Amino acid sequence: MSRTRQGRVVWFTGLSGAGKTTLAQALYQELVDQGEQVELLDGDAVRENLSKGLGFSKADRDTNVRRIAFVAGLLARHGVTVLVSAISPYRDTRDQVLSELPNALEVFVDAPLDVVTQRDVKGLYEKALRGEIQHFTGVNDPYEAPLKADIHLKTDEISVQEGLQRLLSALGVQHGEV
Ligand code: PPS
Ligand code: ADP
Ligand code: MG
Repeated sequence: MSRTRQGRVVWFTGLSGAGKTTLAQALYQELVDQGEQVELLDGDAVRENLSKGLGFSKADRDTNVRRIAFVAGLLARHGVTVLVSAISPYRDTRDQVLSELPNALEVFVDAPLDVVTQRDVKGLYEKALRGEIQHFTGVNDPYEAPLKADIHLKTDEISVQEGLQRLLSALGVQHGEV
């Protein structure tokens, strides 16, 4: 009986508004189009379901990240490529879960705080800066950037298409390959 190949886990970490979801969705669509088995675990969606009720304390964020990693590991074991887009702000927890996943890549989705505050995709920075949200990452809660990510994308300097291209190259996939 042939063994299923281990799936990859591509873990996007970064501030809110840095571009995790945008890039993960772009990569998801490209891999689906190429016929890959792929799943996307996005922080916002996970928090509506698997992590419903969790908040943004260190303990709750770590629990959330560990749950995501657990599910990612199960899927990857069955050959699925798993894309994770979650702030995952604590380096120790991120390093630990990534080291326990057999075939994982860490992607640092990097944009400076002033840029993400300008983007303010969901209006959350404005609220956080007004003091209406406690423990908002980058404003009044920590974000510990990776020291050596496998892929470092500065999203204030490159386009989404360029980011996608960098991701596909790192995964050894040609753009538009079938
Ligand atoms: S974590 O830290 O990994 O557990 O966070 P994650 O599961 O990715 O959830 C982040 C999304 O929750 C929304 N949100 C907040 N983010 C950061 N800090 C606070 N306090 C907060 N409150 C709500 C926000 O939509 C995040 O999604 P993204 O896509 O990062 O903007
Ligand atoms: P996150 O999931 O990290 O909170 P989102 O993907 O929801 O971030 O939002 C990122 C925003 O930044 C989107 O509006 C996206 O169009 C924009 N953006 C601009 N340049 C880039 C880039 N190079 N990569 C990703 N997103 C970008
Ligand atoms: Mg997002």
